[in-house]
Amino acid sequence: MSKPKVFVTRRILEPAMKMVLESCQVDLWPDEIPPSHEIILKRVRGVNGLLCLLTDRVDAAVMDAAGPGLKVVSNCAVGVDNVDVPAATARGIPVGNTPGVLTDATADFTFALLMAAARRVVEGERQVRSGGWKSWGLDYMLGADFAGATLGLVGFGRIGRAVARRAAGFGMRIIFSDPNPAAPEPGVDAAQVDFDTLLRESDFISLHTPLNDETRGLMNAAAFAKMKPTSVLVNTSRGPVVDQSALYDALHSKRIFAAALDVTVPEPLPTDSPLLTLDNCIVVPHIASASWQTRQKMSRMAAENLIAGLKGEHLPNCVNLEVYKK
Ligand code: DGY
Repeated sequence: MSKPKVFVTRRILEPAMKMVLESCQVDLWPDEIPPSHEIILKRVRGVNGLLCLLTDRVDAAVMDAAGPGLKVVSNCAVGVDNVDVPAATARGIPVGNTPGVLTDATADFTFALLMAAARRVVEGERQVRSGGWKSWGLDYMLGADFAGATLGLVGFGRIGRAVARRAAGFGMRIIFSDPNPAAPEPGVDAAQVDFDTLLRESDFISLHTPLNDETRGLMNAAAFAKMKPTSVLVNTSRGPVVDQSALYDALHSKRIFAAALDVTVPEPLPTDSPLLTLDNCIVVPHIASASWQTRQKMSRMAAENLIAGLKGEHLPNCVNLEVYKK
């Protein structure tokens, strides 16, 4: 029996890539730069499976270009905002993602960004390199303390809760806003508040929400106006949750103290972005989950979802379980 045909939009890590190569006829996009939407439309023709990354837009047109033989879309990410999930559901196509395995890596990195922004690590390092460091000074490079400060988590799912666990160890007060929160971990004291209270009371705000119609542009000028002037914003969720032009104004005018972004609009962020002119803004290239172990686990989950879907089995991690109820 011939192996199922799949388009893989970027090489995944071993041993997962080998698993896919062994069970499928693979068309593997070889470049580091993602295939364009036009290329995806061409390469998916007649495939049974698509293994994609968060950089690939997988919309109804892609599913239709693949044709009726398409049995699975496996996204190698926990976020699936790049996939038109309702369109997949309407076509009976299960969509896989990679939840859980990147929780700790992302929470660790969130803390790295919170600390780097609050304690001006990147700005300080730039001063050393540029010769701006003249002397130790009592009021030189002052930043914010963590102990006793309030951390506001927007989104209290797996990653939000993992950040809360870390924050508890730093002696922070934790509040969160979430329309459908998971229960806090035992031993972690976190209080649910409304979004406005979170904006007003937090010294640090960290975003852990999926991107959807409710969260797009959530951090806008009105939100920044409610934040403390000493507050720090970190975004490791999705770029469009933050209105970047409003963020620029808030940082430039010192309406808020600092921000650190792992995610931006667009990605990569152009080097002439106004945000990159600011000392109080750190931007890193969407690497919160980028540890060797985590990316290997994500790759394996994506391969397992793909292979299960091709066999007609339930995906181990499926975001549109409705497809199995039809
Ligand atoms: C995801 O999986 O959605 C993350 O953004 C990857 O870091």
